[in-house]
Amino acid sequence: MTTKEIKSSFQEYASLDELSPEDRELATKAIRSMSHAYAPYSHFHVGAAVRMSNGQIVRGANQENAAFPSGICAERTAMFAAGAQYPDKYICSIALAGGVHGRLTDHPATPCGACRQVMAQYQARAGKPISVLMVGAKAIWKFEKVDDILPFIFNSI
Ligand code: THU
Repeated sequence: MTTKEIKSSFQEYASLDELSPEDRELATKAIRSMSHAYAPYSHFHVGAAVRMSNGQIVRGANQENAAFPSGICAERTAMFAAGAQYPDKYICSIALAGGVHGRLTDHPATPCGACRQVMAQYQARAGKPISVLMVGAKAIWKFEKVDDILPFIFNSI
């Protein structure tokens, strides 16, 4: 038996000012998209923004439903919209931000497992890493590729 380790690294930024202009724009759009959330049940508003290979930014926000599983997260809203609008382009990066009643969390909100899996597939489709920016009021985390937040990605079919 051998014990193996999985390593993941990311950058932590103290504020939007520390980000590159491109990442700052994406993070800002994710924060602004929080106000587009429809979250009458959880009151947790999440905004997401996806940058495409043609430079276009597609935004999303979580959309809840009384039949709970019918709702969808901000990240998947943005990624699926991006895939549907620009089928011949690929996703380069995604940013997300969340908070209760629209107040940005201090600590970055992190994407759920289903959204990570969807990110992984768009990354595989692109054949290039998708960077993931998780935006909080007191810290911003940047992961260079989806593998860093989803080890052992399911890609067997
Ligand atoms: N949510 C997202 O939009 N993204 C995530 O990655 C996690 C959770 C939404 C789903 C639901 O509307 C609310 O946040 C509370 O879970």
